[in-house]
Amino acid sequence: ESSENGKIISLYAQATQLYHHILVNTELGQEALDYLHQRGLQDDMINEFNLGFAPTTDILKNFVKEKQINYQVLRKSGLFVERSANADTPVDNLNDRFKDRVMFPINDANGHPIAFSGRAMHTEDKTVPKYLNSPETPIFNKRRVLFNLDKAKATIRQTKSVILFEGFMDVLAAYRAGVKNGVASMGTSLTDEQIGILAHQARKLSICYDGDDPGQNATKRALEIIRPSDRFDLEVVSLPDKLDPDEVVKKYGEEKFREIVKNQHETPLSFFMHFYARNRNLENENDQLAYISDILKELVTVKDPIERDLYLNRLASKFGVEYRNLESQLQSLMAEQQ
Ligand code: UTP
Ligand code: MN
Ligand code: MN
Ligand code: MN
Ligand code: MN
Repeated sequence: ESSENGKIISLYAQATQLYHHILVNTELGQEALDYLHQRGLQDDMINEFNLGFAPTTDILKNFVKEKQINYQVLRKSGLFVERSANADTPVDNLNDRFKDRVMFPINDANGHPIAFSGRAMHTEDKTVPKYLNSPETPIFNKRRVLFNLDKAKATIRQTKSVILFEGFMDVLAAYRAGVKNGVASMGTSLTDEQIGILAHQARKLSICYDGDDPGQNATKRALEIIRPSDRFDLEVVSLPDKLDPDEVVKKYGEEKFREIVKNQHETPLSFFMHFYARNRNLENENDQLAYISDILKELVTVKDPIERDLYLNRLASKFGVEYRNLESQLQSLMAEQQ
């Protein structure tokens, strides 16, 4: 019900200010503030993104106790965990969900916080998740939300282009490096809803996921999700040394990062030509055949005959096989797809 949703939204606005205040003005937030500084986020970024800190105490519970906020609003907000599932019990039944975490507000497209992601500063204990996200609530459907879309949308519309990153820290690092059209999905693969939202605003979509194996696998998955929609000019940004964007900014600097985003990108097919060569020995005949077969399968979905021709020629010369054999193999794969 909508007045209840309005109260949940208002609670998120207050929680955002509270966590931000703890981070920037109190002793409790000092370690987290040092952590963010050490990660390259200075006070201007911390303020612009309203980053915060949730201490180990039940700070939000104590805050709302004084405000006499309706219990249903509190429990539906997802900001608390319930000790027992009694619908009408008082606030004492609740504990803060986010404790000892650096808080990243997740805003809707209009800039209102509707969820959080909290990062643990100490991740030696592998049972503690590095990032903890708000659960789905009446105001937060993670399939529809993109981190930073509120701030990025002006640049996205101006340039008709959007960059997809894997993580929150990557979006922030890019932003401070002057790449302001970056967004991230919520730690999950991209959804059709998110593609639809972006397609209204951009013509070009660049994928700039982590350079490590999980990031490359995620790039492949994202391409498989986005390519059939045929709504974007797609490119893949390739990062050096298996780094993620945040690490690239740290290691090589902001200017180099901007240069990489601008110039170091490839087409989806070129990405696949590199991707399928990973963990294979292309001197070995079995590996060669498997590789060629993987590339041909990707070529099936390429609509432009000239583009297909280009990559068939590359395959033919790379492995010294006959162009017409590759082409007839591709034709029969395409016939199977009909
Ligand atoms: P990464 O493991 O690449 O984290 O996960 P990161 O973004 O580089 O984070 P830092 O630099 O260590 O702080 C990429 C994204 O996957 C989601 C988050 O959205 C994260 O930004 N994720 C990761 C989770 O939701 N939970 C986790 O425990 C880990
Ligand atoms: Mn400091
Ligand atoms: Mn990663
Ligand atoms: Mn990463
Ligand atoms: Mn990272």
